[in-house]
Amino acid sequence: MANQDDKLKKVISHSKEYGFVFPSSEIYDGLSAAYDYGQLGVELKNNIKKYWWDAMVKMHENIVGIDAAIFMHPTTWKASGHVDAFNDPLIDNKDSKKRYRADVLIEEHVEKIKIKIDKEIEKAAKRFGDAFDEEQFRSTNPNVLRRQQQIDEINNTFKTAMEQEDLAAVKQLIDDLGIADPDTGSKNWTEVRQFNLMFKTELGAVSGDAGIIYLRPETAQGIFVNYLNVQKSGRMKLPFGIAQIGKAFRNEIIARQFIFRMREFEQMEMQFFIKPGTQGEWYDYWKQYRIKWHKALGLGEDQYRFHDHIKLAHYADAACDIEFNFPMGFRELEGIHSRTDFDLSSHEEFSGKKLRYFDPESNESYVPYVVETSIGLDRMFLAVLSNAYNEEQLEDGSERVVMNIPPALAPVKAAVLPLVKKDGLPEKAREIMEDLKYDFNVFYEEKDAIGRRYRRQDAIGTPFCITVDHETLETNTVTIRERDTMTQERVAISDLHSIISHRVSMRSLLEKAK
Ligand code: GAP
Repeated sequence: MANQDDKLKKVISHSKEYGFVFPSSEIYDGLSAAYDYGQLGVELKNNIKKYWWDAMVKMHENIVGIDAAIFMHPTTWKASGHVDAFNDPLIDNKDSKKRYRADVLIEEHVEKIKIKIDKEIEKAAKRFGDAFDEEQFRSTNPNVLRRQQQIDEINNTFKTAMEQEDLAAVKQLIDDLGIADPDTGSKNWTEVRQFNLMFKTELGAVSGDAGIIYLRPETAQGIFVNYLNVQKSGRMKLPFGIAQIGKAFRNEIIARQFIFRMREFEQMEMQFFIKPGTQGEWYDYWKQYRIKWHKALGLGEDQYRFHDHIKLAHYADAACDIEFNFPMGFRELEGIHSRTDFDLSSHEEFSGKKLRYFDPESNESYVPYVVETSIGLDRMFLAVLSNAYNEEQLEDGSERVVMNIPPALAPVKAAVLPLVKKDGLPEKAREIMEDLKYDFNVFYEEKDAIGRRYRRQDAIGTPFCITVDHETLETNTVTIRERDTMTQERVAISDLHSIISHRVSMRSLLEKAK
């Protein structure tokens, strides 16, 4: 494939062509950073949700789920810190009139230095062959050391500036580093300003400040305010978790890169309530569990990496991201945060209600600590989709586009295809459909040559094509074609169910993720 940028473009156009993702309200030229999931997209999304929900809720006796409202009492967002601190530092370029996140400009600058270090290491590895010791090279090579020092200095200056809310220092850093508008090269910047990311609207007929209500910027707060309801009604004992999947809204300054950064998106979050003092051990547990969950999908072990946060959010005492190798490079896919007792304590203070846990073992009452796992469903969708997209050169010289979607997540599990549209083959194919449809999402198609129908199923990631031919009528057998290998096998109709079940099983994924 030409390059990664090219790949993202291809994924976007493929998504639209086959019904995975459409631009929102496209007949009106679309709305920036809003997307609609089409007929296949919604199936893939539902399968990702199920994989997450089953791994988190069904596989853990001490985790339960909820579905809280998007609208919450406005004081929630005072208590959570979002009204005062959910800001991004923005900067405008006076020439191009384009708006950027100052922190992102700085991060991208750092990323460029990191790439130079990686290249240096790659070159040396080639030069030294098997004898190459990367750790030693990193700690002794003067070029690498100089560049690493540059990175550390930038990160420290930025961290201090943000901690001290010194936006002038952030602007100074951008000037000192000579950062230019990525689109135009202009260095004519405005000052840096803070911009609150919450969407506001009005409640019912109440106007003015009294009626202001927010669209939730994270689902987590719906869990915190229900901590006591769930703990008491479910007679939950610490440690226990509450999971939720739902929409969140952020007025992102720059929303781009398809469904990677949207203003309306979906999160899958889990808050794990624990005894204070045990956060380190649970933070490690959830880091390991979540990375296993990702790797069980088979998208490639080297497609993930952890990134520890330098600038911690207002609620966290430790935090990291699981980054995925998207077409535009490694980016955040999921966050794991040790949130201390910040949220529950703050809700106690603002609501005047006690949000404690009586520990029968120690006979004391305390505000639990929380470790959170938070993954963007749309980002997970993009990870799966972009990883799955492959253009293959076949032995006969032809080409195919195949979506190697993990079979358990594939929108359609099998296509049932009568070889011809006559001689009783469609009727037989319908009989097979009738039997399989109770357990699998199956698709029927009788139009066009069989080869073209196979290609269409490859392009939407269907793991199996079942072809009904004249022999089927005599022997009750069909050919089953496997998407990735394109091998075909003749099997008994009575075996279809178990063959498909085995390959598309969510269970085997869940077992691997354990
Ligand atoms: N409750 C913690 C929280 O919301 P976050 O790191 O701000 O933490 C968690 O968000 C995840 O939500 C991210 O890792 C990302 O996958 C997803 N996410 C955040 N903003 C997003 C956006 N604008 N569009 C799509 N996904 C987003």
